[in-house]
Amino acid sequence: MQLKHFLAATTAFLAISQPTLAYHVKRSNHAMLTLPPAFPGQGPLPTVAQVQSSSAGNDTLPLVNIQGDILVGMKKQKELFVFFHINNATAFKSVLKTYAATNITSISTLLSAPSAQPLAFVNLAFSQAGMTALGVTDDIGDSVFTAGQFSDASALGDDTSNWESAFQGTNIDGVFLIGSDEDTITAQYQADLETKLGDAWTVVYNLTSSVRPDDEAGHEHFGYLDGISNPTITGFGDALPGQSVVDPGIILANRTGDPVSSRPSWALDGSFLVFRKLKQLVPEFNKWTLDNAIQNSAGNLTTEEGATLLGARMFGRWKSGAPIDLSPDADNSTLGTDPELNNNFNYIHTGSDLTTDESRCPFSAHVRKTNPRDLEAQGLLTDLNHAIRAGTPYGPEVTDAESSSNTTQTDRGLAFVEYQSVISNGFRTQQLIWANNANFPFNKSESIGLDPVIGQGTRITYGLSETNYSESYSVTQFVVSNGGEYFFSPSITALVETFAA
Ligand code: HEM
Repeated sequence: MQLKHFLAATTAFLAISQPTLAYHVKRSNHAMLTLPPAFPGQGPLPTVAQVQSSSAGNDTLPLVNIQGDILVGMKKQKELFVFFHINNATAFKSVLKTYAATNITSISTLLSAPSAQPLAFVNLAFSQAGMTALGVTDDIGDSVFTAGQFSDASALGDDTSNWESAFQGTNIDGVFLIGSDEDTITAQYQADLETKLGDAWTVVYNLTSSVRPDDEAGHEHFGYLDGISNPTITGFGDALPGQSVVDPGIILANRTGDPVSSRPSWALDGSFLVFRKLKQLVPEFNKWTLDNAIQNSAGNLTTEEGATLLGARMFGRWKSGAPIDLSPDADNSTLGTDPELNNNFNYIHTGSDLTTDESRCPFSAHVRKTNPRDLEAQGLLTDLNHAIRAGTPYGPEVTDAESSSNTTQTDRGLAFVEYQSVISNGFRTQQLIWANNANFPFNKSESIGLDPVIGQGTRITYGLSETNYSESYSVTQFVVSNGGEYFFSPSITALVETFAA
C-alpha cells in the first residue's frame, strides 16, 4: 500500500475505530494528558491546521504518522514505561499489526481536542535487539544504537554496578510508553497488552513516573523547573523568543536536515529515543549546597541564600526556571514561567568578554554545557546537537526522615527521554563531549571542569563561585545512572508495514 493511501486509511480507521476495552473510551470532559502549556514556562503547541499550512523544509510533516512523544516534548501526569523482551516474534507481530494501527498515539491525536483523545497515550520503540528479533535487519545508520547502551556505558562514564540488572546486556527488545492522568489507567493499558501478547513477550522492567505535586508540577526532584527549553522544528509551530529552530531532520530520520543519507526508507519520520534512569540524591544535594554556600560580591547573603545561589549557578537557572544569564542575583518567577521570556538569552552581553566573564553564568552550568547558546550564536557550532527532551520524574517526594538525615532512603530521579535523528549528535554529544569534558565550552580562558549536575568522570568544576571563578569544587555525584537503552521510535506506518510484517 502506498504511504498516502495507508495514511488516509489509518486516519479513517482512527476516526471510526471502536474501543477494544471498556475503559478505552473517549472522555468529553477529561483530557488524557496534561499537554503543554499546562505546566509553568512551556509554550503552546501548534494546531494541526497550523502545521499543515506551514512547510518543513521540503516536507509537510504527516502528523498522523509520527509517534506523539517525539515532537510534543510533553510531560505526562503519569507515565508507565514497560520494557519488554520478545519471546515469539511471529505471535508478537500478529498482535502488533492491529495494535499499532489502532492504539499508537500520533502527534495529530495529541493535538486534537480533549474529547477526541483516548484515555491513555501509547508510544512504542524498539532496541536493536528487538529489531533483530522481529527480522528488521536493515542498517539504520546509527552505530551506537546498533551496539546498545550497555556497551556504551563505560564511554558515558557510567558505573554499571549501579545499573538495574534489566538494562545490563541486550535483553530489552522494546519499550511501551503509556501516559495518562491516573496510574490505574496506565496499569490497565499494560494489563491489556499482557492479555493480548500473552507468552509472546515478557515484561522485564517497569518504571512509573509522574509529575510532581502542587507547586512542584513541572519541576524535577532537585526543585528546578524542567522541560522549558526544547528546540522548535521548522514547520511545527512558531519559535518563541530565543528558542532554537532546527530542521525536522535533526529529530526525524530521513527528513530535511538528517545528516545521515543512507537509511532505509521505512525509517522516515522515526526518531532515536535515548532512555536513561537517572537516580537523584536530593537530600545530599541540599546538604552539599548548604555546606558549600557561596557569597555574592556584596557579601550579604545568608547561608540559605548562598546555597540557593550556588544551586542556580550549577544549573544556570533558578528553581523558578529564570535563567541566571538574565537575572544573576535573584530568582524572578515571572521570568522563569513566561515562555516569551525564559529562553530569550544567549550569554552574550555588550562589554562582556565571552572568554572570561562568568559573573552571570558559569561556563560549566548544566544548561550552558548542554546548550552552549553563545557558541551557536557566534557561528562556532551548528544546530546538529539539539534534541527533544520528554522525561518525567519518578519516585516519591523527599520525606522528613530523609531531609533530617540528609540521606536518600527511597529511589527517585528522572526518567530521562530524549529524541534525535543521530544519537552521537544529540544525547551523546551533550553527555560525553560536553558535560563530561572539563574543557568544554571551547574558546574560554578560564578553567571550566565538568557539568556539576550530570558530568561523569573526575567531578571537578570551576566557575561556581561568583567572586573567584578559578576556585575549584569537588562536587559529589548527585545524579547516578541506573542504566538505560537506545531505542528507535518508528513511524506508525513502519510499525505496521515493516516491524509487524
Ligand atoms: C537527573 C538529571 C537531570 C536533571 C535534574 C536535569 C535538569 C535540567 C534542568 C532543570 C534544566 C533547565 C530547564 C530546561 O531548560 O528545560 C535542564 C536543561 C537541559 N538539560 Fe538537563 N537534567 C538532567 C539530565 C540531563 C541529561 C542526561 C542531558 C543530556 C545528556 C540533559 C540535557 C539538557 C539540555 C539539552 C537542556 C536544555 C538547555 C538549554 O536549552 O538551555 N539533561 N536540565
